[in-house]
Amino acid sequence: MTDLTNKTVLVTGAGGGFGLQMVRQFRAAGAKLVLTDVSDEALQSAVAAAGDDLVASVVANLATEQGCDTVIAACGSRDRVPDVLVNNAGIAHAGRLDHVPRDQWETLMQLNLLAPMRLTNSLLPGMVERGSGHILNVSSVAGWMGAKGMSSYCASKFGLRGFGETLAADLDGTGVYVTNVYPSFSRTPILDSPQHGYEQRRVVPDYLLSDPADVVARALEGMRRRRLHVFPDKYARITHYLIRFAPWILRRMERRLQAAAIEAGKTAN
Ligand SMILES: NC(=O)c1ccc[n+]([C@@H]2O[C@H](COP(=O)([O-])OP(=O)(O)OC[C@H]3O[C@@H](n4cnc5c(N)ncnc54)[C@H](OP(=O)(O)O)[C@@H]3O)[C@@H](O)[C@H]2O)c1
Repeated sequence: MTDLTNKTVLVTGAGGGFGLQMVRQFRAAGAKLVLTDVSDEALQSAVAAAGDDLVASVVANLATEQGCDTVIAACGSRDRVPDVLVNNAGIAHAGRLDHVPRDQWETLMQLNLLAPMRLTNSLLPGMVERGSGHILNVSSVAGWMGAKGMSSYCASKFGLRGFGETLAADLDGTGVYVTNVYPSFSRTPILDSPQHGYEQRRVVPDYLLSDPADVVARALEGMRRRRLHVFPDKYARITHYLIRFAPWILRRMERRLQAAAIEAGKTAN
């Protein structure tokens, strides 16, 4: 999708940190927007950012099958499937799996992994029939590395990465493309997610945080270039490099990061 002028883009989690940036940047590129979020309050800020370029907006809980169906219905008939599906909505929590209430990590898996698969499953036939389309999956650098205290989040993001990679192979020659984006830590509300089983709240040190506007700009650029994998910030690129060539360094860095996050948490309290 090299030219986004008048293309319809469906963005999930549109009122969130990355979501709002996506609305602004897709709009600036000439796209029309179908927006969804779980709360009306979040959705309304996205709707305001979309202005005249809004096609439709819908409140839906994407952690349920019904919520996914509601979003698909809002897209309209099969001959009007969006040109781009952005699987952006996601949640996080920290803590060892058995310390996280089961309903919370099951909801996370539904939203972060099953919703992108459900939405893609519904929209793909129309895209393939039309011979054009793009699926943009917001995975994470946690889709490459098993990060301490993030087992369900990593499972969902590894899953999304595998899903996108396989889908891209399956869609070869159809005119439908897939881009997976793997941000590291970025300054968005997800950083305030619940933590379970820790004595001390952990806070990501400020120097590790990227600007969501930059992350989204790189994601859109990667999409335009039809890249399958996009590492949109410095730490994502470093992590990906170390995973392949020096994973032991990464483990050492992770221990330091945990200690820094505990210290930053003490200062923040
Ligand atoms: N920021 C980072 O450091 C980072 C790094 C790597 C990957 N990511 C990924 O980036 C994506 C966007 O996250 P973000 O950083 O922009 O965080 P965010 O600001 O918290 O955005 C997440 C969005 O998802 C929505 N959402 C939550 N539960 C939902 C549900 N059940 N159904 C539908 N929507 C729901 C949220 O709505 P409410 O705000 O109303 O709850 C919010 O608009 C996520 O997939 C996340 O995993 C983020």
